[in-house]
Amino acid sequence: MLIARSISELRQHLATSHRPAFVPTMGNLHAGHIQLIEQAKPQGDCTVASIFVNRLQFLPHEDFDSYPRTWEADCAKLEAAGCNVVFAPREIDLYPETQTVKVHTDPALGNILEGEFRPGFFTGVSTVVMKLFMSVFAGKSQGVTAFGKKDYQQLMVIRQMVRQFALPIEVVGVDTCRAEDGLALSSRNGYLSASERTEALQLSLALRALGRDALASSHALAAQRPSLEAKAMEGLRQRGWQPDYLTVRRRHDLQAPKAGDALVVLGAAKLGTTRLIDNFEI
Ligand code: PAF
Repeated sequence: MLIARSISELRQHLATSHRPAFVPTMGNLHAGHIQLIEQAKPQGDCTVASIFVNRLQFLPHEDFDSYPRTWEADCAKLEAAGCNVVFAPREIDLYPETQTVKVHTDPALGNILEGEFRPGFFTGVSTVVMKLFMSVFAGKSQGVTAFGKKDYQQLMVIRQMVRQFALPIEVVGVDTCRAEDGLALSSRNGYLSASERTEALQLSLALRALGRDALASSHALAAQRPSLEAKAMEGLRQRGWQPDYLTVRRRHDLQAPKAGDALVVLGAAKLGTTRLIDNFEI
């Protein structure tokens, strides 16, 4: 497995690749990331993973400094998964000057849900992902990238960016990897105490219940949605959570659903100091 620390080194490693398969990560890898590698690998001729904790997507009060950096363990996992190249730029390599040119997401998608509670988050994500895509795919006529459905809105934002900029990249959405009890795997689960880890499952249970209620209300969903969502949030509040949102949306643009739309339930809530997100397509 080759390591590239700079964009030029990466491009040298990829010189003979016609269709790179790329998985961007911020490291602290778990089975969900490895599943992304496994899905991407057979679809390209060279598998690349990036490890870069992207300052641009953290708000000042968020965990940029304390975000776990686990380089040795990450490399061992990537190598075992058959990754060919790890792109791990230092900040100075990816952002040699202040990144004043940014990719601003469509506010209709990027300023709702996660974007409402983490303003600027999707601009930070889209900007780094565009830069990583340019690093990996520039000069290639095709490529593939895999993103987890765990970050459902992020996947929609990236799909829209790829579509609207006509990037020759296939975006594969990969199902959420869950622990045995059903908790969605996340790098931030490591912040949970033992009792919080047990309680954490309640977010996905609340979302599943909201999904069942939404399907049961069928044609009356538009009218009943606000009260169903309020009930789901109140249930978590009663258990000591601070929910940001639990909501039923249509899948493709995360707007309020109309009759017949394919649906997804999404939620974000804080348990203690840890903010968790999850979702289910229903
Ligand atoms: O999902 C993530 O880990 C990050 O948002 C990403 C896509 C690697 C961009 O920094």
